[in-house]
Amino acid sequence: MSFAALWESLVPLGRDGGTGGYRRFSWTPADAECRRWFFLAAAERGLRASGDRNGNLWAWWDPPGADPGAGPAGAVVTGSHLDSVPDGGAYDGPLGVVSGFAAVDLLRERGEVPVRPLAVAAFCEEEGARFGVACLGSRLLTGAIGADRARALSDRDGVTLARAMAAAGQDPAALGPDPGLAAGITAYVELHIEQGRALAGLDAAIGVAERIWPHGRWRLTFTGRADHAGTTRLADRRDPMLACAAAILAARGAATQEGALATVGKVSAEPGAVNAISSSVTAWLDARAPEEARLHAVVERVLAQARAAAVAQGVSLDAGQESVTPAVDFDARLRDRMVAALASAGIRAPVLATGAGHDAGVLAAQVPAGMLFVRNPTGVSHSPAEHADPADCATGVTALAAVLKDLACR
Ligand code: GLV
Ligand code: MN
Ligand code: MN
Repeated sequence: MSFAALWESLVPLGRDGGTGGYRRFSWTPADAECRRWFFLAAAERGLRASGDRNGNLWAWWDPPGADPGAGPAGAVVTGSHLDSVPDGGAYDGPLGVVSGFAAVDLLRERGEVPVRPLAVAAFCEEEGARFGVACLGSRLLTGAIGADRARALSDRDGVTLARAMAAAGQDPAALGPDPGLAAGITAYVELHIEQGRALAGLDAAIGVAERIWPHGRWRLTFTGRADHAGTTRLADRRDPMLACAAAILAARGAATQEGALATVGKVSAEPGAVNAISSSVTAWLDARAPEEARLHAVVERVLAQARAAAVAQGVSLDAGQESVTPAVDFDARLRDRMVAALASAGIRAPVLATGAGHDAGVLAAQVPAGMLFVRNPTGVSHSPAEHADPADCATGVTALAAVLKDLACR
């Protein structure tokens, strides 16, 4: 099946008819449809597919004569994720999974045969859109998050990950690290749409990742006193929304000062009445910076200003870190090898840093990991407007096949 046919078979799944964006949240019916799609794509190719204890999906192309029971020793893995942010674009994640299957097709068309196990993977809850922790599936696999903490994570309706998994037929008691699987992988290469415009500026269809900025998520809950919007004198109010607003503005100021990025993209007010002062407001801060010192400077500055604003408004503040991913410098040997394999295939691929998080960044702690980026003409991502040109997607498949051939077929 061509890239286009495989892509078109995935496009309708989990797409909102109104916004055109995707709502593929883990362990929901949309997620189940994506999982079925993955197993079908694997079956159509005769790949040995399975889900692991953490809900990640694997489709294995075994070398001829290999004993599948022997484990993944020496494996080369490609892939990405199928879940989305709320109203996300079509490409963030799925492009890597579809390109992985299409690269297998291309290698086969060219008569290539793997000499080591080669897998296409789809990692679970990469965006953290439902349970708050990004790259949850790869964090669980590597042990970067404990199973107990993961099981207790809850979504906006208070449904825990454990309950959601059980309802979807996956055993939450099995969650946990998989050292045998991680140790068996000799290289993980994730292809991803670029989430910026660097390649467009460099007139290149494909890039190779150099590093990921350190980044993380923090929760700030301001608690005040609910009261009547029409009768409570301004001087008598304990309004948590005002302190939250000050923290949001502080985030922008701190990011500007530190040459970093800080975003509050999600706020929740309780009880959420137009004509009542909120009893509590929670804001989630996403912060990213070129270096850890600057990341922590941003967060400390925001928290200090949030505390001061809370005191000024007579409200309390409870703040906590939800996840932090340190800076990731991708394996230099793998990166150089990828650049060389691309050059042999006639593909010029500049090396780029990124502020976006990826499973490759989490796996990089235990496995030589690398990434290919496919040009995004507008740079827009985490939006229904995200786009990559079909010709660049085709070059992405050619590039991935060149890298996989070099790593797994000789
Ligand atoms: C993932 O897309 C992230 O960077 O948040
Ligand atoms: Mn994303
Ligand atoms: Mn992604």
